[in-house]
Amino acid sequence: MVLEWGKKFSVRSKAMKASAIRELLKLVDNPEIISLAGGMPDPTLFPKKVLAEISRDIFLNHGNKALQYGATEGIPALREALVNIGIEEGIQNLAKENLIVTTASQQGLDLAGKVFIDPGDAIIVEAPSYVGGLQAFRAYEADFITVPLDNDGIKTDILEGKLREAKENGVNVKFMYLIPNFQNPSGVTLSFERRKKILELSHQYDVPIIEDDPYGEIRFEGEKIPSLVEMDNIGNVIALRTFSKILAPGLRLGWMIADKEAINKFVIAKQGSDLCSPSSTQYIAYEFIRQGHLQQYLELVRQTYKKKKDLMLQAIEKYFPKEAEWTKPEGGMFIWVTLPDYVDTTEMFKEAIEEKVAYVIGSAFYPRGEDKHHMRLNFSLPTPEQIDEGIKRLGILLKKKIH
Ligand SMILES: Cc1ncc(COP(=O)(O)O)c(C=O)c1O
Repeated sequence: MVLEWGKKFSVRSKAMKASAIRELLKLVDNPEIISLAGGMPDPTLFPKKVLAEISRDIFLNHGNKALQYGATEGIPALREALVNIGIEEGIQNLAKENLIVTTASQQGLDLAGKVFIDPGDAIIVEAPSYVGGLQAFRAYEADFITVPLDNDGIKTDILEGKLREAKENGVNVKFMYLIPNFQNPSGVTLSFERRKKILELSHQYDVPIIEDDPYGEIRFEGEKIPSLVEMDNIGNVIALRTFSKILAPGLRLGWMIADKEAINKFVIAKQGSDLCSPSSTQYIAYEFIRQGHLQQYLELVRQTYKKKKDLMLQAIEKYFPKEAEWTKPEGGMFIWVTLPDYVDTTEMFKEAIEEKVAYVIGSAFYPRGEDKHHMRLNFSLPTPEQIDEGIKRLGILLKKKIH
């Protein structure tokens, strides 16, 4: 008899859906298609030579440790280096006990889901929000409360209303999930005033904040705004950081900063997931920092992405219909385009593929898929020529959709 796998899957796994992005990206697997879809760093910038030299030394001279299991919390040298970076940044009362190394920030999201969410618990997310975050939390059967964004980030007046309403209705809100800098997908940055307000609300309503900040270091314009974890003097913020955008996603390394009690729980939860993050890449990342390469690499990334962002904005100005609106990010990797509400970017996607250009459909970034007239464009991965040609192709298609 052939086993029916569907009958074996848990109720919980039924809540898990394939990421719309990954499904659509399968269609993009054709070299003729210009992809403005993925969310990947520019691989031509990866510091391959330095990493090759560091790796060679580590495997030859420190291989016994680098190829061995490590502590679940992370190898001590890297943890210490990350604590020092955090202290220099201005994070208050930061000690080793407040930090765990993770298998990049996606694991941090999963651990947060595992540790905090019971089926039916509510969490607050920005609308739109990062697909991988929604996917991680959906797996633990969270109920999503969405709060819209504008150019200054999540709208705190609406957030306050939703927190009040949840409290009045006895809804258990476990955390707010925020991406404050150059948000994925919208590219917008949460203003300082709103950051202050969010911390006040977190305190007032006893709701922790998950601050997911993969892009903060990739600011190529404007003034840095302190992170929520820096501004927090209560200990309500759980910060997720990653090497994926500041070094290389293939290392699969990130870290979490939080209250000691929360970190202890994450350590236990992580043991059940992967025992520890790869020791080898932890040693490599540590050496990369210790030898002082990080700032130089970040400078190159910032300069390159700024040029690409400028090119994409110029091309959008030139080719897109006047009815379209778009964000102007000061960092990160994404531009968010808003079209008249009768333009359905999901329906349009197949036509875009026929025209050999791809983007990410806006609905993927909403937990209930409700908004359909947006698209996310990535400027870090395509070449300058691809940016111009890709935006041109999209512009021609969009002009046909406008009436
Ligand atoms: C907002 C956000 N969080 C988390 C991640 C996951 O990144 P990683 O697991 O590589 O650190 C991404 C990746 O694009 C992201 O945009």
